[in-house]
Amino acid sequence: MVISLKNEVERYRYGIYHLLKMIFPYDVVVVNGENSDVELSYAVGKSSVTVFFGEKVHEEPIIRDDVLLSLKRAVYRVTGATLPFGVLTGVRPSQTALKFDTDVVKNLEEVYLVSSQKGEIMERCAKRVRAVQNRLSKKQISLYIHIPFCPSRCKYCSFTLAYLKPYSQLIDGYLEALLTELSGVLQTVSECDLQLASVYIGGGTPTVLTEQQLRRLLEKLAAFPMPKEFSVEAGRADTVTEEKLRLMKEYGVSRVSINPQTLNQKTLELIGRRHSVEDFYRAYDWAKKIGFDTINTDLIAGLGEETYSDFTHSLDGILSLSPEHITVHTLCNKRTSALVEQGDVHKAEEVGKMLRYTYEKLMPLYEPYYIYRQKEAISSLENVGFMKNNQECMYNIFMMEEASSVIAVGAGGTSKLIDFTDKKPFAKLRTDKQPERYMRDLALTLPKKQAFMMENCHRI
Ligand SMILES: C[S@@+](CC[C@H](N)C(=O)[O-])C[C@H]1O[C@@H](n2cnc3c(N)ncnc32)[C@H](O)[C@@H]1O
Ligand code: SF4
Repeated sequence: MVISLKNEVERYRYGIYHLLKMIFPYDVVVVNGENSDVELSYAVGKSSVTVFFGEKVHEEPIIRDDVLLSLKRAVYRVTGATLPFGVLTGVRPSQTALKFDTDVVKNLEEVYLVSSQKGEIMERCAKRVRAVQNRLSKKQISLYIHIPFCPSRCKYCSFTLAYLKPYSQLIDGYLEALLTELSGVLQTVSECDLQLASVYIGGGTPTVLTEQQLRRLLEKLAAFPMPKEFSVEAGRADTVTEEKLRLMKEYGVSRVSINPQTLNQKTLELIGRRHSVEDFYRAYDWAKKIGFDTINTDLIAGLGEETYSDFTHSLDGILSLSPEHITVHTLCNKRTSALVEQGDVHKAEEVGKMLRYTYEKLMPLYEPYYIYRQKEAISSLENVGFMKNNQECMYNIFMMEEASSVIAVGAGGTSKLIDFTDKKPFAKLRTDKQPERYMRDLALTLPKKQAFMMENCHRI
């Protein structure tokens, strides 16, 4: 079916369009299209809005002085939609929960038509945002270090990055540039009298670095006062060695992520993730034996041809290890049309069930602490991080919820500054994604980043 959104007002277009895409993921939505099967149009009055959808009409009072919200509510009603996140289309659901001081779930249900289960998760994650922000003092920031290399590309991965094979000779040069940038940025951190609240080395796959390369990076950081929270992505078990893990522990790394994504060997092969289930268990056991405070494991719901029972097998397997953190992602498929062609409504239902199982099993033992959505995720469902023992990874909250400033180092990093008083992002700086261009341009981009920090640090 082709649905045409008749829209003259620019400022409502984006919100209504995305809600329609979420309500009708297997149909085509066009704006002001000619040859459609059905049209959706609207009229905005003084105290109410009216939405027309084919033959159907729905009038909705304007609530909270918010015309777009009221229009979205009317679209939701007139189309007979039932979405777990109601009319919410944004990537940070907790930010909406933070708008309410009391009766959060009730308000989310009544105003945004969110289901009570999602409302509860949103409320809990919003509480963590408040808690970590209250713990932070002025001038605390986080440092993100990006390693944009992987040993091979996993088929589902939508991150732009470089692969190890043609790039292996590049890594030494990249590391050199990264260390130069790191020195410069850390010097400015000192000059601005900033302190590090957390450090995160992510990717890509930071553990593609050899032990020697990894040691150089860790040594550089160790020359600076390091925070208690220090995370490294050791996602791909095929790049993890016991020695690399020991090295990280020696240099104060507190959290490592070892990510199976699935515990089904067949799926790992299908998605081109070149490690085995045994490789994951081996790497996990090393990390446990070496004594990391926190081990995280990432899973993805909806991978390859996985059924509900494939997913429950993975989640149960992870639960039996009892890691401190578990992060469950909903598969995000940029080529949504491929799903359409396969008529994969069934898959969307399965993934919904997978997430329900996740909450059923994890909620008695873990606490959800951050949540975010991606536009292309199956059924627009969420990614959610769970923690044990009240020990969150603050960096994930800072970054995903835009709760505190992050300075990024390396190709493709985005530095984002958050105002300490109103807790809002106020400045952003992006670095080129291409490792070669990053290396080539560093002599220009580093002073620019330092000036960016200097000019803005009084607001952090
Ligand atoms: C930035 S990636 C880096 C992690 C690491 N490279 C790895 O693969 O283990 C963080 C996580 O995002 C998730 N992810 C990546 N691509 C995804 C996709 N297309 N849909 C859903 N989750 C995805 C995976 O769970 C992955 O572990
Ligand atoms: S290892 Fe991680 S970042 Fe690299 S391709 Fe696979 S999912 Fe993407």
